[in-house]
Amino acid sequence: MPTSHLLFSETGDKMASKKKSSPKKKSSEIKSIAVLCSGGDSPGMNCAIRSVVRTGIHYGFKVFGVQRGYTGLLSGNIHQMDASSVGNILQKGGTILQTSRCKEFFQKEMRKEAFHILQRKKVDALIVIGGNGSLKGAFHLHKETLLPVVGIPGSIDNDISGTSYSIGFDTAVQTAIDAVDKIRDTATSHERTFIVEVMGRKSPSIALHVGVCTGAENVVFSEKTLNIKEIYNDIQRGIERGKSSSIIIVAEGEKPGLSYEVQTRLKQNYQIDAHVCILGHIQRGGKPTSIDRFMGSKMGYLAVRALTEKKFPVVVAHNQGSTDIISLDESISSKEEKDLTSLDLLKTLSI
Ligand code: F6P
Repeated sequence: MPTSHLLFSETGDKMASKKKSSPKKKSSEIKSIAVLCSGGDSPGMNCAIRSVVRTGIHYGFKVFGVQRGYTGLLSGNIHQMDASSVGNILQKGGTILQTSRCKEFFQKEMRKEAFHILQRKKVDALIVIGGNGSLKGAFHLHKETLLPVVGIPGSIDNDISGTSYSIGFDTAVQTAIDAVDKIRDTATSHERTFIVEVMGRKSPSIALHVGVCTGAENVVFSEKTLNIKEIYNDIQRGIERGKSSSIIIVAEGEKPGLSYEVQTRLKQNYQIDAHVCILGHIQRGGKPTSIDRFMGSKMGYLAVRALTEKKFPVVVAHNQGSTDIISLDESISSKEEKDLTSLDLLKTLSI
């Protein structure tokens, strides 16, 4: 669980603790770098962009921004950035570089074309901020062209292998908690059961964190593991000890809408009228929390430093209180959440 004391620990930051290379000293081959965001936007991406641009300038690189992710890259939407082009963006949600889900980039031919575009623009290395699919794209681009690439995990889902944290997760969880707290007011006033669906695709991370932090009765992860009798029992137990509201958190899974299945089955099997609220994209927007500002800043800095040390293809990863680089291929498979301790915690506390 990302807590500030874990994230801000300085003890294990191997790269950062190494002797700093002297500012303005250029790496022999890499003179210019580009940064792009890809996939779903996440709060804190702007902090990472700012950090890449300013750290890059610090180390004497020419820094370019690619607008609209891989889609923009394929259309040559690349512009030079300076310290002022990233001024006053730390506190802004979304990404000033914009982003896209680019299907064309799955094709080898398109990645080759992207490489030629970067060559024509005289860009020597690429930093990609994004989730699983985006990092996979960067990995293949490097494998096929040897372009130096560095990844920065950016996704509210927190489902990237090799790192316990991806930028945007903390803000998304906080946004969902704020929403559920408000829903709890209505649920209590009307003595209702609410089913609240949160984002995260197949990852249960957001659902589990929100469930624990809002005192939910249960968390549902997938249709396969949905146990409607258990949910009913949890609701009933609460009512019997005088609780006037119940909240069930549902992880969206492959596609949104599992909440309606839970609602229908509670009604059919147990005559419980539950209300559904799908939080959706509000979880992707908004001001980044301190954790996402800090992690965005730190990961951007470490990504550039990896290039100064000619370490690629790598991704910046956060594990056990320490932020460092790991090889990019370690991060491109989907993370399977095996640790369901939080579910046990939630069930223990919601009796
Ligand atoms: O990957 C981030 C995420 O917000 C998921 O949690 C969600 O399933 C998906 O993106 C939604 O994607 P889009 O904004 O493209 O509909």
